Amino acid sequence: MTLHCPPERIEAQIAQWRTESPEPICAYLYDLQALQQHVRWMREALPDGCELYYAAKANPEAPVLQTVAPWVDGFEAASGGELRWLHQQQADHPLLFGGPGKLDSELALAASLPCCTLHVESLGELARLASIAERGGRPVPIFLRMNIAVPGVGDTRLMMGGKPTPFGMDEQDLPQAVAILREHPALRLEGFHFHLMSHQKDALMQLALVRAYLDIAQRWKAAYGLDIGTVNAGGGFGVDYAEPSASFDWLRFCTGLREVLRQHAHGLKLRFEPGRYVSVACGWYAMEVIDIKRSHGEYFAVARGGTHHFRTPPAQGHDHPFRILRGQRAAAIENERVTLVGQLCTPKDVLARAQPVEALAIGDCLLFPLAGAYAWNISHQNFLMHPAPRMAFLEARTALHAANAA
Ligand SMILES: Cc1ncc(COP(=O)(O)O)c(C=O)c1O
Repeated sequence: MTLHCPPERIEAQIAQWRTESPEPICAYLYDLQALQQHVRWMREALPDGCELYYAAKANPEAPVLQTVAPWVDGFEAASGGELRWLHQQQADHPLLFGGPGKLDSELALAASLPCCTLHVESLGELARLASIAERGGRPVPIFLRMNIAVPGVGDTRLMMGGKPTPFGMDEQDLPQAVAILREHPALRLEGFHFHLMSHQKDALMQLALVRAYLDIAQRWKAAYGLDIGTVNAGGGFGVDYAEPSASFDWLRFCTGLREVLRQHAHGLKLRFEPGRYVSVACGWYAMEVIDIKRSHGEYFAVARGGTHHFRTPPAQGHDHPFRILRGQRAAAIENERVTLVGQLCTPKDVLARAQPVEALAIGDCLLFPLAGAYAWNISHQNFLMHPAPRMAFLEARTALHAANAA
């Protein structure tokens, strides 16, 4: 993956804050120019016959949505809250609404939004939506989310299908789903949706999955006489936090997609809805070191903030990569291993364990890259009532204006 994250922009912002206040720094910084370059690169690599949506669950901040908007076909919402937010923020863009446990009120809202397509997760949800749609004034476009097993394509750390999960319907449910659809012309079936796994780092496996999705959709289309036009192949393109160059190979995938489309699409369009892979690289979390101590022979750097702002390291169960932005003071420790922790009164508040550092002092800033997805928004922000981090969105004015003018 491309990592357009020039730390100079991040460092310049931190230097600016340092002139404004002596308070230790604790912030998220988003490089919108890097984000714009990255999503544009993703878009331009995709072959014709493919659509790109952004899964806002990865990072729904308004400037992030605005930056990706010119390069995507729309946005995916996974809750009523996200749907309302996306409708407010991106009213002109098509929206997808998926996820289990939708309330009737949320189904009714989605059914009333002209640009919204629903991903139906179960027979029960389909029946509830059918009666809501009958009362509304427009045919409601839907996709059926299917949970199928595709032999030979391997597992990842985060499986949403191919085994018992709350997501999507079994193939055995399809005859009943089709019967409900036939009884309710207020629902318009536009395609099938599949998202079997996240953290997929193998482009060839993902191509095999997409092939399988297209083939099974063709089979169902013929078997049930369905007039569908699109297969949504989900998101889940994986990021290797320790070694970003080992992340999902988007270019290889897009190259392979051309052949897959040629041989298996037969008129079906493909739609993707990635989150992490789009926004992860634009975000940085910065924590200033407040204390350096030794405990039972091991060094700890206690920095302002913690996993209540940046839950990604414990959520991923990894030591998050970091860089040190040295401050004014002489090093307190040199060539030592240090565990980086936050301000929470729990031993779980660890961002990286026993990491080698050349030099570290109080006042230095720890900069954590790859903090633009599933970071601030998945964190337990209210725990201990620490203040929120500062938020900086480093604009991409020139580039954005150029993009809008094009
Ligand atoms: C249905 C669906 N679509 C898209 C995504 C986005 O996944 P990722 O951020 O890994 O691309 C998810 C993640 O959970 C999902 O469940």
